[in-house]
Amino acid sequence: MSIVILGIESSCDDTSAAILKDEVILSNIISSQKVHSEYGGVVPELASRTHQQNIIPVVDKAIKDAGIKPDDIDAIAFTRGPGLMGSLLVGTSFAKGFALARNLPLIEVNHLHAHVLAHFIKEDENDTEQPGFPFLCLLVSGGNSQIILVEEHLKMKILGQTIDDAAGEAFDKCAKIMGLPYPGGPLIDKYAQKGNPERFKFNKPGIKNYDYSFSGLKTSFLYFLRDEMKKDSSFIENNKYDLCASLQKTIVDILMDKLIKASKDTGITQIALAGGVSANSGLRNTIQNHKGWKTFIPKFSYTTDNAAMIAITGYYKYLNKEFTDQSVAPFARTEF
Ligand code: KG4
Repeated sequence: MSIVILGIESSCDDTSAAILKDEVILSNIISSQKVHSEYGGVVPELASRTHQQNIIPVVDKAIKDAGIKPDDIDAIAFTRGPGLMGSLLVGTSFAKGFALARNLPLIEVNHLHAHVLAHFIKEDENDTEQPGFPFLCLLVSGGNSQIILVEEHLKMKILGQTIDDAAGEAFDKCAKIMGLPYPGGPLIDKYAQKGNPERFKFNKPGIKNYDYSFSGLKTSFLYFLRDEMKKDSSFIENNKYDLCASLQKTIVDILMDKLIKASKDTGITQIALAGGVSANSGLRNTIQNHKGWKTFIPKFSYTTDNAAMIAITGYYKYLNKEFTDQSVAPFARTEF
């Protein structure tokens, strides 16, 4: 018998609801909050208020677009954390209320696990593009940079992670230094495609294990631009394509160095990419062209925050009978 899961995601600034029938997607509605752009970053209080306004229409549309009735839903899965507490509370409270009202099992999902398991969402019954086990997943977003060893759907461990800024933060903070709007990652990617990636060199960290660090790069970028701008106040504008290309190459090199090391040390050559930064064309190309690797890159709508990944994780937890009760509360920060 098929299992129909309603997934809810509200950890940051996207309100999302999705319906999955087993592993096949029926709908995935994402309402991204525009209200934060004028502040240069996500404002937590505004995010939770906007989730409160969006959650019911988003769930309603997800159910309608899936062509199902609320009675068809077998369980509700929601993001318990990590994320912004006020934002998580909206999705958690909604899920608890929905489960209580309809007498459905409630499933809590770790947002980071869900990013990894997004690779198992199927477009239809014949979709066989999923990685086998074990595989390595590079999870790169605005809040995380991790190399994860995935042994089974619900068995994974972090091999390395950032000790300061995440890769997305490195893109966004360097973009801000250049005077670009938030989030700067996509714009750096766009400009980088017209620039020379070898023109400028920036600091790379010297950490020995699989961990990342991006704060040194940001400082080196800041000081370099400050010095150049003293000599020529149009330096950024006149060199923005080369600056973006060189910066992007440095970030991709840093990410790749540790991923290659992890692949060599574990002997695992199935490599998956997850999180918002996996949209980066430089990173995609470099990973896809790496000799000897079979790579998996999810559809763009499953790389940024979305409820389909929450629903697929909920599906595997449902099969494993991992349910939660009404006393559950969100968590803002967590290890894995
Ligand atoms: O996973 P995600 O949607 O949510 C957060 O964790 O916040 O990731 C958002 C991050 C931002 O830092 C954004 O600048 C970055 O992903 N990003 C990109 C690109 N598209 C999004 N970074 C570089 N190149 C891109 N094309």
